Amino acid sequence: MEHPEREHWKSSLGFVLAAAGSAIGLGNIWRFPTLTGQNGGGSFVLMYIAIVLLVGLPLMYVELSMGRAAQRGPVGAFGKLAPHPVWKLLGYLFVLTGIVILSYYGVVAGWTLKYFWIALTEGFSRGGSGPFFESFTSNGTAQISFFLAFLGLTVGIVFFGIKGGIERMSTVLMPVLFVLLILLIVYALTLPTAADGLRFYLVPDVDHVTGKTFVFALGQAFFSLSLGMGAMLTYGSYLSPDSNLVKSGLIVVICDTLIAIMAGLLIFPVLGGAPEKSGPGLVFVVLTDLFATLPAGRFVGALFFLLLTIAALTSTISLMEVAASYLIDERGWSRRKSVLVMGATVLVLGIPSALSLGAVGGLGSLVKIGGNELGFLGLADFLFGNVALTAGGFLLILFTVFAWKRKNFETELYSGSTLAQAPRKVLFFLLAVVAPLCLACILGYMLFTGQTLG
Ligand code: TRP
Repeated sequence: MEHPEREHWKSSLGFVLAAAGSAIGLGNIWRFPTLTGQNGGGSFVLMYIAIVLLVGLPLMYVELSMGRAAQRGPVGAFGKLAPHPVWKLLGYLFVLTGIVILSYYGVVAGWTLKYFWIALTEGFSRGGSGPFFESFTSNGTAQISFFLAFLGLTVGIVFFGIKGGIERMSTVLMPVLFVLLILLIVYALTLPTAADGLRFYLVPDVDHVTGKTFVFALGQAFFSLSLGMGAMLTYGSYLSPDSNLVKSGLIVVICDTLIAIMAGLLIFPVLGGAPEKSGPGLVFVVLTDLFATLPAGRFVGALFFLLLTIAALTSTISLMEVAASYLIDERGWSRRKSVLVMGATVLVLGIPSALSLGAVGGLGSLVKIGGNELGFLGLADFLFGNVALTAGGFLLILFTVFAWKRKNFETELYSGSTLAQAPRKVLFFLLAVVAPLCLACILGYMLFTGQTLG
């Protein structure tokens, strides 16, 4: 389908904020601090930054260049740039991956709405967070309702397109997110637990650094930067040729990393040390319990869950855009119809995830992989949020080096840029040698140990 008038971002700042909005999400606010806590504090942070620059940034450039060159979402981009039609299959896998990630990410995102609401209306009760979390997540009707509400918000924004929907919301929400985060950090640093928390977070503990740390850092970098399934590719496809990809990509990567590090500056001072729980338990139980006891905790809790809601929302809209753009670009459907159909699909797919946290016992524990009991949501995250993204990133690099070819990639990436030759060479070396080696290691690790990185 040829769309002569493809919609483009209004400004490069708008694009950067939307792409940063996609990257910055639940992954930054709770997953990064938790992993840092479990993997040696400051030394994990350093390793993470190195991996983001060595593997994340080159792949970010691949996705943005492919998108801008093709002016299509992943399926169309492979169709247009690839010499062989088999690559198109990878495009379909990307769209599917986006739909599945959205279906379970949306469930957790729904919780942020509920918690924001509780903080506003009644506040949290001391010591009651654990039992509340359990009864909430095992209440099927509540799970589906909040999932539906969050999906409704997402659909409502993507419905209005690139400029009027995604870009407009991102340019409002991202600065709000930043200001909220700063306010919360300032508050956290005044708590008596702050010094212990900061010591734990920032002082490197080399004993905790193992091969596994490296694997975790790599997996986290991928998920956090929204790489490996064509989300950045799709956002790149709404760029016009005069945009500076080198600069924009770098800014997005820096913002995402900065926000993750800042989230640690908020969470650890509140905790005052190592997190005893990880994943949802950390944010929805431990922090909530603390908000119940802290001075002005209810107000701060409301701001915190508002921050999480915003972070999650700008991420779910990017996942939805990948799915919708497939129907728009490849099937020629209208945006409105595409978004509604994909919204309904995601809703149906997400129901088993929503019911897998206690509502329907059988969905709560389906398989055991590498010692972890995985329910429907956990399994979807393992297969799509971990394995598919890593494999996708690996294949994207193979595609660029062997099929699309260095010359085409570099011509696209450096048009509109004045980067010198030496850094260009370094970047290609990272892309063609360092990144694939790292990715092959992490893929092997995940498949052989079944260790989920979530
Ligand atoms: N990066 C987001 C986060 O950190 C999640 C996300 C949005 C994502 N779009 C994605 C992850 C595409 C992988 C692929 O929470």
